[in-house]
Amino acid sequence: MTLAKRAAAVGAVALAVASLQPVSANAADTRVVGGTPAAQSEFPFMVHLSMGCGGALYKKDVVLTAAHCMEGSGPNRSITVTAGVSDLNSAAAIKVKSTKVKVAPGYDGSGKDWALIKLARPIDKPTLKITTTTRYNRGMFTIAGWGDPSEGAGTGTTKLQKATVPFVADRVCKRHYGNQLISKEELCAGWQRGATDTCQGDSGGPMFRKDDAGKWIQVGIVSWGDGCARTGVPGVYTEVSTFAKDIARAASAL
Ligand code: ARG
Repeated sequence: MTLAKRAAAVGAVALAVASLQPVSANAADTRVVGGTPAAQSEFPFMVHLSMGCGGALYKKDVVLTAAHCMEGSGPNRSITVTAGVSDLNSAAAIKVKSTKVKVAPGYDGSGKDWALIKLARPIDKPTLKITTTTRYNRGMFTIAGWGDPSEGAGTGTTKLQKATVPFVADRVCKRHYGNQLISKEELCAGWQRGATDTCQGDSGGPMFRKDDAGKWIQVGIVSWGDGCARTGVPGVYTEVSTFAKDIARAASAL
C-alpha cells in the first residue's frame, strides 16, 4: 500500500496523486477523458452506479464493479444501478436496486479491486463475458464511462463516453508506478502521449476488447491512476483474467 493510492480524490490537489476513490455520491456524473459519445445500445452491458461508479452486467442480476466503489460485503439496498441507456437522463433508463454486495476476498485497498452487486431483479440486457485466460491481455481496449472529462473536473455530462487505449506492458507501466503496480492483479493501458484515459467516476466500469469470435470480452476493471490522461502515465485496471475463477465462484454464491 502506498500513500498515493489511499489519498482522497476530492479536490484538485488530491487529484494530483494516484487515487482509488470514486467521485462522491453528490458529485455530478461525468466522463472518460478524450472520449467520444457512445451510441445508445452500443455497450448494452454498461451500467452506472449511484455512488458515481461504473460497472458491467456479469449476469442479468449481477454487476461486476470495483471493490473500491463499495463499502464492504453484505446486504446492501442502497445502490441504484442504471442500465439500458447511454444518456442517464433518458426516459428509457432501467433503474434497479442492489440487494447484496460481495467484495473480493482479501481486498485491502491495493490490488484485488473487484466486487459483485446482486440486483433486486434481473435486467434484460446482454451481459459482458469476462476473460478466463491471459490471451486477451494485449492489443487495443475499449474503455467507457460517465466519469470526469478531464483531471479534476468533478462535473460533466450524463452521456456515456468511450475511447480506445492500448495495452501497456507491466515493465513499461512500472517506469511510472514502480512497485505500486501489482503485476499479477493489475494491468495497464493508455497512450504514451496521454490525452485519453479513464478518470474519477469511471471506476468499476469495464475495459474490454473483441475476442477471437468477434464478441466483446472484459479484460479489466477501471481501478486507479496518477491523475488522468497525463503524458507517460497509464491507467491501472484490475486484471480480470487473474480473478475470473474467483468472480465466477463469488457470483454463484451471491
Ligand atoms: N479511481 C477512479 C475512480 O474511482 C478511477 C481512476 C482511473 N484513473 C486513470 N487515470 N485511469 O473513478
